[in-house]
Amino acid sequence: MHSYHLSAQAPTLDIPGAALGLAQRESDTPEPGPGQVLVRLRASALNYADLSFLAGHMPHAEGLIPLLDGAGEVAAVGPGVQRWQAGDRVIANPHQNWLAGELRPPNYGAVLGGMIDGTLRDYALVPETGLAATPEHLSDEEAAALSCAGLTAWNSIMGGPPHRRVCAPGESVLVQGTGGVALFLLQFAKLAGCRAIALTSTAEKAEFLRERGADAVINYRENSAWGDSVVELTGGRGVDLAVELGGPGTLPESIKAVRPGGRLALIGIVGGMGSVDYLHMIPIIHKALTLFANSMGSLADLENMLQAVSLHQLRPHIDRVFPFDEAPEAYRYFAGRGHIGKVVIRHD
Ligand SMILES: NC(=O)c1ccc[n+]([C@@H]2O[C@H](COP(=O)([O-])OP(=O)(O)OC[C@H]3O[C@@H](n4cnc5c(N)ncnc54)[C@H](OP(=O)(O)O)[C@@H]3O)[C@@H](O)[C@H]2O)c1
Repeated sequence: MHSYHLSAQAPTLDIPGAALGLAQRESDTPEPGPGQVLVRLRASALNYADLSFLAGHMPHAEGLIPLLDGAGEVAAVGPGVQRWQAGDRVIANPHQNWLAGELRPPNYGAVLGGMIDGTLRDYALVPETGLAATPEHLSDEEAAALSCAGLTAWNSIMGGPPHRRVCAPGESVLVQGTGGVALFLLQFAKLAGCRAIALTSTAEKAEFLRERGADAVINYRENSAWGDSVVELTGGRGVDLAVELGGPGTLPESIKAVRPGGRLALIGIVGGMGSVDYLHMIPIIHKALTLFANSMGSLADLENMLQAVSLHQLRPHIDRVFPFDEAPEAYRYFAGRGHIGKVVIRHD
């Protein structure tokens, strides 16, 4: 079995802020035990979180196999496995212990590539309930691009855990950027019959977003008061849902952009860390906004999303695919922030 491990001993990757490098190792391929499945991983994908893990900010990072996203086929099953047989094509759920319902203490804590060994390896032993079936129309590279970013977008638009409100047809949604989560948000917002207002940093990316269904696009570099522009674009009303991917630098404008009684999904920090003046938060109270967060999703959420992906023949947008031996180069490319959509690693 071939795997990469985060390690302070390995050469760093010339990525700003990276304290750990990637060490390649070989070991014996494990045998599945009771209830376990041995998966031959054919592809994995990078997410913004993987750059934070490379910075070594989380405990127990040393020696951990990175990456949350992976897809491949079942190589062997252990005694008692009911759901799978050898040859089935599968996608790993990043939350290996979260099967359905709300995220609660017993199902929290087994996140691939963050808390337990991840997908940057050719074989992985997982519980049979850590996998969902790959839609037939998707390649392994496309399947690997779906889980972390796709689920986060799905649960922001389609409700996710029980009692969470679903975006209704005719509502408007604010989407930030052209990264992995953002492009899935755009796809799912359109699927839900919503109007999508998107932010991006260049004219080329604005065109790309329009071609993929964005109803209006604002350049956040040229227009730093974009929250006001979103309100204007919605006839003075504001969007029904803003999905906050930027973090402290974008939160005040997102709060402006949401209508009274609307919703704000707190998802990411891709614009960088910092603090927010509480004065900018006061409109949350005045406008009685509902704030919610997502941590990807459960196996049930993943299966619901994949059913919609199959029915509507949706595909993730893949920017570039790197071979397994060039995983460090994939990280460097992703850290360069020039990508649109997903950066994938193929495990031959
Ligand atoms: N809570 C969860 O479960 C969860 C799951 C997945 C991801 N996340 C978080 O969501 C965020 C996005 O993740 P990702 O993997 O999609 O990242 P990504 O692919 O690296 O996203 C990069 C894109 O973000 C956009 N961006 C950067 N600064 C921006 C700003 N100030 N305003 C608007 N857009 C900006 C840029 O779009 P343009 O190039 O178009 O300008 C850039 O291309 C990250 O913070 C990640 O940690 C959270």
